[in-house]
Amino acid sequence: APCEHVMCALCSLIWLCFLFPLSSGMWSVQALEMIVGKIPFLQAVNGSTVMLPCTYASCIGIQDLYFNWQFNDNGTMQKVCESLIVNEGVEPHVEIFRERVEFVGKNRNNNVSILLWNITFEDGGLYTCFGRNPKEKGRNHSAIFKLIVVDELRVVDNTLTIMIASAVGGAIAALMGFMLLKNFTIFVLSKIEEKNKECLVTSSGIDNTENGLSGSKADSKPTPKKK
Ligand SMILES: *[C@@H]1O[C@H](CO)[C@@H](O)[C@H](O)[C@H]1NC(C)=O
Ligand SMILES: *[C@@H]1O[C@H](CO)[C@@H](O)[C@H](O)[C@H]1NC(C)=O
Ligand SMILES: *[C@@H]1O[C@H](CO)[C@@H](O)[C@H](O)[C@H]1NC(C)=O
Ligand SMILES: *[C@@H]1O[C@H](CO)[C@@H](O)[C@H](O)[C@H]1NC(C)=O
Ligand SMILES: *[C@@H]1O[C@H](CO)[C@@H](O)[C@H](O)[C@H]1NC(C)=O
Repeated sequence: APCEHVMCALCSLIWLCFLFPLSSGMWSVQALEMIVGKIPFLQAVNGSTVMLPCTYASCIGIQDLYFNWQFNDNGTMQKVCESLIVNEGVEPHVEIFRERVEFVGKNRNNNVSILLWNITFEDGGLYTCFGRNPKEKGRNHSAIFKLIVVDELRVVDNTLTIMIASAVGGAIAALMGFMLLKNFTIFVLSKIEEKNKECLVTSSGIDNTENGLSGSKADSKPTPKKK
């Protein structure tokens, strides 16, 4: 009977740790997914051309998949482009609402990435890759990609951080030097103090002898004075 209990606990452990996540993972894969990649942000210099990556994945397949890219402009979503993908492998006609945008994914391998030409600082922000598959009762799926537009002056910022880092390093070195110096000073001072103590001891010894000479009980008096 106790062995059965152990087996039962083992079984539930295996279920909880391995089989349950596996089955739930299979469930999530079956639904449509919009994927912007493992690194969902990009830092780029103004004036450069960047790609906003996005692909879709669906186990049950797609049909008339609606997709768009949206730009979050101060809270209001602006459509960048939109299209209907009839089937996987069919290049769709994409309507573009924003300037300097090109649809480069072409639905090759479920690729719906876009290109942003000659970016300006106004292009920086959050971009949503959105998809809806009628095969899944019109459920919405999206992924967000962040574009950070920086000035070329960033290089100067780097030298500044290096300067700060070296300054901090220098400060730490100075502090360590100071600590060493302090320790050395304390060592020297303690040596001097030791000598002083010796002096005090000898002087007190002289006092004792003086006391011993002056007092009659020479043996009992010097001991409490030394302590
Ligand atoms: C980037 O912005 C800076 C400052 O606004 C400007 O001087 C520079 O010309 C811009 N660079 C490009 C490539 O547009
Ligand atoms: C976004 O909001 C900021 C401050 O709230 C404002 O200065 C800026 O002009 C707005 N941008 C647009 C495009 O409305
Ligand atoms: C981007 O800038 C280059 C050089 O300034 C220009 O030749 C090109 O036409 C621009 N592309 C777009 C899509 O605006
Ligand atoms: C999507 O297409 C673009 C342009 O052809 C390409 O650079 C990019 O690597 C593709 N992304 C994936 C995940 O295949
Ligand atoms: C999906 O998004 C659309 C707007 O794009 C919205 O009207 C609809 O209610 C959403 N559906 C669900 C199930 O969230």
